Amino acid sequence: MRTPPGPFRLSRLHVLLRTRPVSNEKKLRLGILGSGKGSNMVAIADSITAGSVPAEIALVLADVADAGILARAQERGLPAKFIPPGRFRTKLDETAEAAYIAALKEAGVELVVLAGFMRILKGEFLRAFPQRVINIHPSLLPAFPGLEAWRQALDYGVKFTGCTVHFVDQGVDTGPIIGQQTVPVLSRDDADTLHGRIQFAERQLYPVAISALARGLVRVEGRKTVTQATE
Ligand code: GRF
Repeated sequence: MRTPPGPFRLSRLHVLLRTRPVSNEKKLRLGILGSGKGSNMVAIADSITAGSVPAEIALVLADVADAGILARAQERGLPAKFIPPGRFRTKLDETAEAAYIAALKEAGVELVVLAGFMRILKGEFLRAFPQRVINIHPSLLPAFPGLEAWRQALDYGVKFTGCTVHFVDQGVDTGPIIGQQTVPVLSRDDADTLHGRIQFAERQLYPVAISALARGLVRVEGRKTVTQATE
C-alpha cells in the first residue's frame, strides 16, 4: 500500500474509503454551514465529484452575507443561502435558529456539516438533528478546544497537534470523536504555518469521515464512536 507524501499518514480506513469507488450507493444529503472562506466545503464537494464520498450537498448556509463559502458553492452550482444570525454574537437567536432548521429540513438534509461555522448550536437545533451534526476542529481534542486552537498548541509547546471530526453535543468541542489526523509542530512554525498545515490535514480528514458516515460505518457507543472497516 503506497504511503502518501508529506507528514500525513492515512489509516487503513482512509485508504479503503479513498480507493473504493462509489457505485449505486444511496447518497446522504448534506447541509454545510460556514462563516468563512469555505476550503473544507470545497474539499468535500471535490471528493463527492471524484466519486469517493456517497453524498450530495443539498444546501450551503452562511451567517455572513459575503462569506467566501457562499461564492465557492455558487461557482459549483450548489444551492447556497445567507441567513441572518440575529442579535447575538456567538449563537443564533431563536428566529434565526428556526430559519436554519426550516431551510435544512426543506432541503431534505440528513447530516449537518459544520465547516468553520462560528456560532455555537444548541438545544432546539441539536434536537432537530439528533446525532446528525458534525464539526471539524483544528486540534487533537480534547486538547485545545475553543478559538485559535493552533495558536494554543504552539504556545503550549506540543510537538504534535492535528484536527478532529466529532459529533456536536451541548458542550463546546466535546462530542464523540469520529476521526483525527495528526500534524507535527515544527520548531520553525509560527501560527500561520502551523494553521496552514492543519488546514491541509482537515481537507483530507473531513471527506473521509463523511464518507464513513454516509456508508453507515460509524456508530456511537456512549461517548465513543466505533468505525467499522469494510473488508
Ligand atoms: C477550519 O480551519 C476549521 O478548523 C474551523 O474553521 C475553519 C474553516 O475554514 N472550524 P474554511 O471556511 O473551511 O476554509
